[in-house]
Amino acid sequence: MIAIVILLVLLLSTFQIANAAASEMHANTVRDEGKALLAWKASLDNNGQSQLSSWSVLSNPCTNWAGIRCDMAGRIAVINISSSGIKGTLDHLNFSSLPHLTTIELFDNALNGSILQNIGNLSKLIYLSLPLNHFSGVIPVELYKLTALRHLILFSNSFYGFIPQEIGLLSSLVELFLAENEFTGSIPTSIGNLSSLITCHLLENKLSGSIPLFIGNLTKLKILSLYRNRLSGSIPKEIGKLTSLQDLQLPHNQLTN
Ligand SMILES: *[C@@H]1O[C@H](CO)[C@@H](O)[C@H](O)[C@H]1NC(C)=O
Ligand SMILES: *[C@@H]1O[C@H](CO)[C@@H](O)[C@H](O)[C@H]1NC(C)=O
Ligand SMILES: *[C@@H]1O[C@H](CO)[C@@H](O)[C@H](O)[C@H]1NC(C)=O
Ligand SMILES: *[C@@H]1O[C@H](CO)[C@@H](O)[C@H](O)[C@H]1NC(C)=O
Ligand SMILES: *[C@@H]1O[C@H](CO)[C@@H](O)[C@H](O)[C@H]1NC(C)=O
Ligand SMILES: *[C@@H]1O[C@H](CO)[C@@H](O)[C@H](O)[C@H]1NC(C)=O
Repeated sequence: MIAIVILLVLLLSTFQIANAAASEMHANTVRDEGKALLAWKASLDNNGQSQLSSWSVLSNPCTNWAGIRCDMAGRIAVINISSSGIKGTLDHLNFSSLPHLTTIELFDNALNGSILQNIGNLSKLIYLSLPLNHFSGVIPVELYKLTALRHLILFSNSFYGFIPQEIGLLSSLVELFLAENEFTGSIPTSIGNLSSLITCHLLENKLSGSIPLFIGNLTKLKILSLYRNRLSGSIPKEIGKLTSLQDLQLPHNQLTN
């Protein structure tokens, strides 16, 4: 009898120790994720740091930090800081420490610099929105590994370089908004692979060459806006196949017919 009681007590305490260890590990992971955000905050200008004054080692990122939301497992999933005049770069935002991010919304700040290769670590990212900032540079090819991505919104920055064939890998994409940047080269034929695409805004760039025939594959497309580029050639008759299309904007190019 006594032996059984001792055994039970032992079992219970091992269970509690294991439980405590698991929750301690979880707390450590959340703390690491918080630390990665605090390191980024420390790299921002004074205004940025005061905008994010709720971000502190003493509070829980999931419940107390402005613009931060966590998933059901308590991992940081959303960064949403818009129109806050934040100056700085993404260089000190260690994406490897934030593998559960699904949403980055940094609409209308004063961020500059470029998107780094480590963006490719965010395999759960669904929503990437950096418009109305001062970002520049070439989009790293690692971004095109993010096959969960549904919204890629980068308008009104100074990104340059080609839109590569790899964009065709983003087969979940619903919204592609690259307007008002400095993109050059032609629209890749692989755009025809983006079968979920509903809105495509490439206006006000420096895109040249002709509109690819494969645009006709985008049967869900509602808005196609390509105006103010350097596109040439004739408008492909395949556009006529786009039965969902509600808004087609092509002026200010060198297109015929
Ligand atoms: C970001 O936050 C704003 C204000 O709370 C909200 O309206 C918007 O839907 C959020 N955006 C995302 C992508 O979660
Ligand atoms: C970024 O985070 C990862 C994973 O937590 C870590 O291994 C790496 O050392 C960090 N990099 C920097 C520059 O802090
Ligand atoms: C970003 O802006 C700061 C001034 O706010 C400037 O010193 C820095 O050189 C800029 N960086 C890039 C990469 O443009
Ligand atoms: C994160 O991305 C970098 C750069 O692409 C890569 O070297 C590193 O292995 C990745 N880390 C993880 C944890 O996936
Ligand atoms: C098209 O998307 C599929 C996944 O849906 C992918 O396997 C394929 O490589 C993509 N093709 C191109 C040309 O990007
Ligand atoms: C577009 O659709 C045609 C068939 O209509 C198919 O042969 C072609 O592979 C598709 N192209 C892309 C880039 O998805």
